[in-house]
Amino acid sequence: MAKKVVLPGGSGFLGQSLANYLIEKGYEVVVLTRRTATSSNHIKYVQWDGKTINSWTLELEGCEAIVNLTGKSVNCIYTPRNKAEIISSRVDSVRVLKQAIRACKNPPKAFIQAGSLAIFGDTTAVCNEESVHGTGFSVQVCQRWEEEFFTHPLPETRQAVLRIGFALAKNGGALQPLEKLARLNLGGTIGSGKQYISWIHIEDLNQMFLTAIENSQITGAYNATGPRPVTNQVFMKALRTALGKGWAAPAPSPLVWLGAYVVMRADPGLALTGRNCIPAKFTKSGFVFKYVDLETTLKEIYAGWFSTN
Ligand SMILES: NC(=O)c1ccc[n+]([C@@H]2O[C@H](COP(=O)([O-])OP(=O)(O)OC[C@H]3O[C@@H](n4cnc5c(N)ncnc54)[C@H](OP(=O)(O)O)[C@@H]3O)[C@@H](O)[C@H]2O)c1
Repeated sequence: MAKKVVLPGGSGFLGQSLANYLIEKGYEVVVLTRRTATSSNHIKYVQWDGKTINSWTLELEGCEAIVNLTGKSVNCIYTPRNKAEIISSRVDSVRVLKQAIRACKNPPKAFIQAGSLAIFGDTTAVCNEESVHGTGFSVQVCQRWEEEFFTHPLPETRQAVLRIGFALAKNGGALQPLEKLARLNLGGTIGSGKQYISWIHIEDLNQMFLTAIENSQITGAYNATGPRPVTNQVFMKALRTALGKGWAAPAPSPLVWLGAYVVMRADPGLALTGRNCIPAKFTKSGFVFKYVDLETTLKEIYAGWFSTN
């Protein structure tokens, strides 16, 4: 019988990619969603609300692992209401999942939690897993998320957080708004251009999740990012090259603030700040990256773009 992995919040960008990857690897996949219960493409969708115990807990009984990807998107304007939901959707889901695991007769072997490299704040210093945390709202979100996860550890379930970087994929994720700008010949350096982008190709990220599910040595917090972070200036140039675009005027910070609030309806900090993180623990454990060089990676993501656009 196939081993089961439960993906709370698995209906989104990372979850759908991971679900398909796990199915390819022979796993049975169950997604917990606030939407209607259904089954499609070999994925079973079970309803939950992300905060209260209900019949969804039956899915956890005897499963191989849980990978929790739940969280209101941070790609929004940080109003008090949005900020509260960004935190509660993360913290509540962790809390209720731990509660449900504790009540299992046969608890999951592993609980893998999505986290974010945003915990390091806005810095150009190289950050490994031991580096100091930054300051500000996004840092607090990550800290409260991890605190809920690691405080009162589960007795029979291995726990690990993957602090995810800027996940690159053809369709969706944080690359999409940058791609739109570049297509409009607006893909110049953003702000000072010195802020780092710690990027990872989604295939490598899926492989990291699989490693975390299968390798019993993986516990604690891991930087889930590629080995070669780059500055925004380098990133935007590589993106323009991959899309066959030439030089584009830089977007100074005041313009980015205006554009973020008025056009993108997102917090400008998402584009103007960054962090320079390395996957020290995954590298030490022998993890092999498929995607290391940014230019090659973006060219591969957009291969075929010219024929369809
Ligand atoms: N994508 C990245 O590059 C990246 C980088 C760093 C960290 N992360 C973290 O990784 C996780 C998954 O990322 P993603 O890109 O796949 O996000 P996503 O596409 O926004 O998916 C997250 C899922 O969470 C559920 N959700 C949203 N708001 C919720 C709420 N208020 N209460 C309960 N559930 C809620 C939604 O599922 P339903 O609507 O089906 O319930 C949604 O599909 C997130 O926690 C994110 O912060 C992602």
